[in-house]
Amino acid sequence: MEHVNIHETVKKLLDDNIKDAVLKLMLKNRRQAGEYQYTLPSTETYPYQWLWDSCFHAIILNHFSADDAQKEILSFLSKQFDNGLIPHMIYWEKADVFNINWGTEGTSSITQPPMVAYAVWRIFQKNGDEKFLRKVYPNLFHFYKYLINERDPHEQNLVGIITPDESGEDNSPRFDEPLGLPPIHSRKTNFKRRLKLIDENRKCNFDAPFCMKNFFWVKDVPFNAIMVENLKCLAHIAERLGHDYDAEYFGKQRQEIIDAMRELMFEDGIFWTTYGEDYKKIKVKTWALFAPLFAKIPTQEEAELLVNTYLLNKEEFWTEYPLPTVSLGEPSFNAEGYWRGPTWFAPNWFIYKGLIQYGFMDIASKLKNSSLKLLKKSGFREQFNPQTGKGLGAKEFTWGGLIIDMNDT
Ligand code: GLC
Repeated sequence: MEHVNIHETVKKLLDDNIKDAVLKLMLKNRRQAGEYQYTLPSTETYPYQWLWDSCFHAIILNHFSADDAQKEILSFLSKQFDNGLIPHMIYWEKADVFNINWGTEGTSSITQPPMVAYAVWRIFQKNGDEKFLRKVYPNLFHFYKYLINERDPHEQNLVGIITPDESGEDNSPRFDEPLGLPPIHSRKTNFKRRLKLIDENRKCNFDAPFCMKNFFWVKDVPFNAIMVENLKCLAHIAERLGHDYDAEYFGKQRQEIIDAMRELMFEDGIFWTTYGEDYKKIKVKTWALFAPLFAKIPTQEEAELLVNTYLLNKEEFWTEYPLPTVSLGEPSFNAEGYWRGPTWFAPNWFIYKGLIQYGFMDIASKLKNSSLKLLKKSGFREQFNPQTGKGLGAKEFTWGGLIIDMNDT
């Protein structure tokens, strides 16, 4: 491919037209593998396909071509396991990074936040292609059934994750306690600990109920909130296809998760991630405080409290370039510590969508504008220092493209 300095090109384009800049990046990161098409989150740093990234890609691509958005989905569905799990990484091409022993060929053995039903439903709303819905429905059905059946051994209606990596927030301080790590430690120590967990899970064949009981049993707030919103979309899809029994079933499961979140996670106005068999609450303030807004789980009154007390609080989350993934008030906060402080685009997008649902248009609009400012200042970086706006981590990273889906205000 012809060498272009995309950072410079993108910066220039951003001043002119954000949509062109996003499209250019998406096309540059696009890859073909036989009949499949997918997008790399970043060509240098992340040269494979990732599950929730691809769902974000589908949401972004849908603004340009619903057909390309569908292709992004079909590529990862092609690697679904027999038990229904969709792996979070697909190694379509060999590269020198993240060659972890997952005990499988060509994919990982863990999953990521289940955004696929949401992405599929958004595509359908754009192009009305019922044939595509029909084609992917069995995959979706098995994936969500797997999460409901295999990730909740105590039948308490909360979906568990078997490693922090399944949350998509690899080293978030929400997982320090269950990993037995102190609030301040190096990224290397964290990575080593997570690799050990993967080794342990490999030994129990990633058999989720068994591995969870023995090694890491976390019920994460964003994962469950995302599940709730996606079950709503899945119920719509089932209904549209005339599967009334399924629609009712998924709708019921959705409500049961909401009820369980209230019963086991909620305290003092906040939904907390829990761990262990007795659902111990992990009281570390991260952007997860606002994740339930995405699925409209809090009441209007509860949402107002979350926004006024925490989101708009300059000593917690309302920094110069919001939204830090960890509250400034936490001992673990580190402005340049990967998932321990920096601003990331996916959380901003989830929160933006949540704020809209409750009618906080002005705040949503401020979050969108500050996100745009980050792109203009630092380009399509993976993360940003929430205080200075400095770009961090991977370059030419796709998640910034979500800016074009922050278009409700
Ligand atoms: C990192 C992120 C994860 C993402 C992946 C690829 O591991 O923590 O959320 O899916 O990179 O972008």
